[in-house]
Amino acid sequence: MTSAKDIRPRGDDQAQFLSTSPSTSFHSPSSHQSALNRVNIPVNVKHLKPFATEDIKVLLLENVNQAGRDILKKQGYQVEFLKSSLPEDQLIEKIRDVHVIGIRSKTKLSARVLKEAKNLIVIGCFCIGTNQVDLQYAADQGIAVFNSPFSNSRSVAELVIAEIICLARQLCDRSSEMHNGTWNKVSNKCWEIRGKTLGIVGYGHIGAQLSVLAESMGMSVIYYDVLNLMALGTARQVETLEQLLGQADFVTCHVPELPETKGMFGQQQFEQMKQGSYLINASRGTVVDIPALIEAMRSGKVAGAALDVYPNEPAGNGDYFNNELNSWGADLRALKNLILTPHIGGSTEEAQSAIGLEVATALTRYVNEGSTQGAVNMPEVSLRSLTIDEPNHARVVFIHKNIPGVLRRVNEILGDHNVDKQMTDSRGDVAYLMADISDVNTTQIKELYSSLESLSSRIMTRILY
Ligand SMILES: NC(=O)c1ccc[n+]([C@@H]2O[C@H](COP(=O)([O-])OP(=O)(O)OC[C@H]3O[C@@H](n4cnc5c(N)ncnc54)[C@H](O)[C@@H]3O)[C@@H](O)[C@H]2O)c1
Repeated sequence: MTSAKDIRPRGDDQAQFLSTSPSTSFHSPSSHQSALNRVNIPVNVKHLKPFATEDIKVLLLENVNQAGRDILKKQGYQVEFLKSSLPEDQLIEKIRDVHVIGIRSKTKLSARVLKEAKNLIVIGCFCIGTNQVDLQYAADQGIAVFNSPFSNSRSVAELVIAEIICLARQLCDRSSEMHNGTWNKVSNKCWEIRGKTLGIVGYGHIGAQLSVLAESMGMSVIYYDVLNLMALGTARQVETLEQLLGQADFVTCHVPELPETKGMFGQQQFEQMKQGSYLINASRGTVVDIPALIEAMRSGKVAGAALDVYPNEPAGNGDYFNNELNSWGADLRALKNLILTPHIGGSTEEAQSAIGLEVATALTRYVNEGSTQGAVNMPEVSLRSLTIDEPNHARVVFIHKNIPGVLRRVNEILGDHNVDKQMTDSRGDVAYLMADISDVNTTQIKELYSSLESLSSRIMTRILY
C-alpha cells in the first residue's frame, strides 16, 4: 500500500495507548482476516490526504467491532476506542477534536452535540438504524453519515430456517416440556420440511438469501413482492399475497416497515392461509396484527408461529415483555408452538463483523477519496481513484448549499486548471461536488482552497492530494 503524502502511521506504542487489544472472540473463516484482505486497496491507488487538517483522528464508541477498528487503524489514523457510549458533556468534549466518529445505537448525535464537532467530517453508525443521529443537521454541516443496512441478512435467513424446522417439529414445546420434567414423545402433526412450500413475502436481501437456503433443504419456494424480481433457483414469483397465502405451508415475512405494510397480516390474511400452516415474522413488529394471530392460532388455522419483532420493544434487556409493553402479552405467551425471540434475527458475531467491515470501509473511502457511496444523508458521488502515476493531481470536494449559480462560481475557480473529471449531485438543500484536477502544486492548492472557502454557498471544502 503506497501513501501519497503524509498520513503517517502512528508508532506502535501510541497505537496501543489509543486502542485496546483485541478481545478473544469467535470468527468464522469468512469473517475477520478475509474482511481485512478485502479492503486492501489496489496497489497503484494513491491515498489522498485532506488539506488543512491534522492527521485523521477517529473516536470509536460503544465497543465497535474489531474488524472495523482494524481497518481504521491499518489506515494509520489515530484511533481512540471506548467500550461504552459517553454522557453528553463528555461526548461534546471529545467530539470537538475528532474528524471521524463511530457509534452504535446508544450514542445520540443531536444538533447540540454536532454543533460542537468543528473538525468532524464523517459519522459511521456501526449498526442498521440511524435514528440516533440528526441526519439533516449533519448534512447541513457537510458531515456525511454511513451505516450498514444489509450486513445481517444472512443471519436473519438462517434464523428463519431454524424456526421452520422448530415449528414443523414442535421442537420448542418439546424442549420446554422436558425442562419441566415431562416426557412427551409425539409424532402427530410433526412434519419434515422437505417437499413443503415456503411463501416468502418481500424478496429483498433477506428473502432472497432464505430462498436459496430453503430450496437446498428440499422446500419449494414461492414469493410475493411489489417489485418484479428475478427468481433464484427454481423459486417462483406469484402475483398476489392471496395466491401466496393459499399455497404456502410456511409463510415468512421480510418487508420493510412502511405505511402499506402496517397490519399487512390481519384476520383476512390468516383466513386466506392454508389450514395448519405456519407464520414467521422477523421483519418489523407492526407488520402482523398480533390479536388476529392469537385468534388464528387458537382456532388451529395457524399451527405455529415465530415472532422476532413486536410493535413495542423495550429499550434494554430485562423483565419487560409483559402486558404493560403490549396489551396482549399474556395471551400471546400462553400459546403453544409459538417461538418468541427478542429481535435477535441479525444478532450474530458474523453480522457485527460484517457491519464493522462495511462501515469502516465506507469511512475510509470517504476520508481518503471523498466518495459518498452508501451515505444516508448526502447525495451519492464517487470518482475513480487517483493513482500513484498521477503525482500532481488533487481532488477537490466542495460541499455546498444547493442554490442557483454555485457551479458557475466553482468552475470559474477551477477553470484555470485542467479538470480531468468532475461529478456533482444534490440531495435536498445540500449538494456535493467532486473534481480531479491535474498539474497543481501546493501553492495553487492553497489558493484553490481559500477561493472555494470564500464562496457564500460553501458548507465544507476538502482538497485531497
Ligand atoms: N429481525 C431482525 O433482527 C432484522 C434484521 C434485519 C432486517 N430486519 C427487517 O427485515 C425486513 C426486510 O429486510 P431486507 O434487508 O430484506 O429488506 P430489503 O429492502 O432488501 O427487502 C424488502 C423487500 O420487500 C419488498 N416490499 C416492500 N413493500 C412490500 C409490500 N407491500 N409487499 C410485498 N413486498 C414488499 C421490497 O420490494 C423488497 O424487495 C425489514 O423490515 C428489516 O427492517 C429485521
